[in-house]
Amino acid sequence: MSKFLDLFQGKTFPSPPLWFMRQAGRSLPEYREVRKGCKTFLDLCYSPKLAAKVTLQPIERFGFDAAILFSDILVIPDALGQRVSFETGKGPRLSPLCLSSFQKTLSFSHFFEKLAPVYETIRLVKAKTSPLIGFSGSPWTLALYMLEGEGTRDFAKAKQMAFSDEDSFSAFLGFLTEAISLHLIEQVKAGVDAIQLFESWAGLCPATHVQKWILEPTKAIVSALRKEFPTLPLIGFPKGIGANLLPYGQDLGLSAVSLDSSIPLSWAVQNLPHNMILQGNLDPSLLVAGGDPLKRGIQSIHQDMEGRAYIFNLGHGVLPQTPLTHLEDCVRWVRALS
Ligand code: CP3
Repeated sequence: MSKFLDLFQGKTFPSPPLWFMRQAGRSLPEYREVRKGCKTFLDLCYSPKLAAKVTLQPIERFGFDAAILFSDILVIPDALGQRVSFETGKGPRLSPLCLSSFQKTLSFSHFFEKLAPVYETIRLVKAKTSPLIGFSGSPWTLALYMLEGEGTRDFAKAKQMAFSDEDSFSAFLGFLTEAISLHLIEQVKAGVDAIQLFESWAGLCPATHVQKWILEPTKAIVSALRKEFPTLPLIGFPKGIGANLLPYGQDLGLSAVSLDSSIPLSWAVQNLPHNMILQGNLDPSLLVAGGDPLKRGIQSIHQDMEGRAYIFNLGHGVLPQTPLTHLEDCVRWVRALS
């Protein structure tokens, strides 16, 4: 029995299923212990036994209702042949990519070979726990990292490249759509029970281009998955997308949308399709603050979601400085909701 998966079958519960984005990693001492034994972050992502162990850590410690695969959205550029590294404290670094000739750098020739350890991780996790959520970055968010070469505040360099050569950028998004779809189909074949698409930088896409750069590529991925797995639970997380949340929720064929903390839940409940599951949207800093403010934040979400199938989660990932006792309190208080 799984509360998380049953929700997608139309069952309802007095208290919602819960899991947290970025629940594995950073904030857990047992993660940092495993991480110390690996030379690089990507080595850990590509070590099935260790990645499986780290995937299970938050389930064992907190008893969340779903595990999320320990991996990263940047394994896709790595598998396509762009050099990716992670510098501690600085975030990701990617080798320069020329937009008009991306096909010269990127190819599928070693794609599945590179990603094989990810699928092996899934099989190891599934032997121990269920449900397991697989994931990928969405094309727009991945394209920003790949063109910028690092994470920045506004991804101004990547966006300037996109605006200066929209035809090449569209071709690039099409190429990533293909890579993402293939990676996700393999994840499902290896055993994941649900998929989340991270569009973490939707808020940086101008409204004039959301249709072309976010909605159409995402719809193509959803269609590719739906063709093979018609009832697969599919969650989209378009962080900061603004009023375009309406077409994102209505038109793409997703089963659920994950809402960032800026979305008023009463508005989402009223305006997003009635059969769509909502996920979210506690501010990650409330989990750092803890105590009564956290308790009130949980109750407010539950009130606003009344009558709606929802999954309790954060508006974005768990912050590294989050005290473990606050995570424990949060689980206890969510379980006690009725
Ligand atoms: O959610 C989980 O616990 C599963 C694992 C997971 C990681 N990254 C592990 C990770 C998931 C789902 C991701 C997704 C991811 N990766 C996103 C989308 C979600 C979001 O937060 O918006 C993005 C944008 C990335 C790219 C990325 N990876 C960045 C910018 C960084 C550096 C900053 C940071 O968040 O730590 C990473 C590194 C990373 N990915 C770490 C972990 C545990 C820390 C690296 C380390 O331990 O050395």
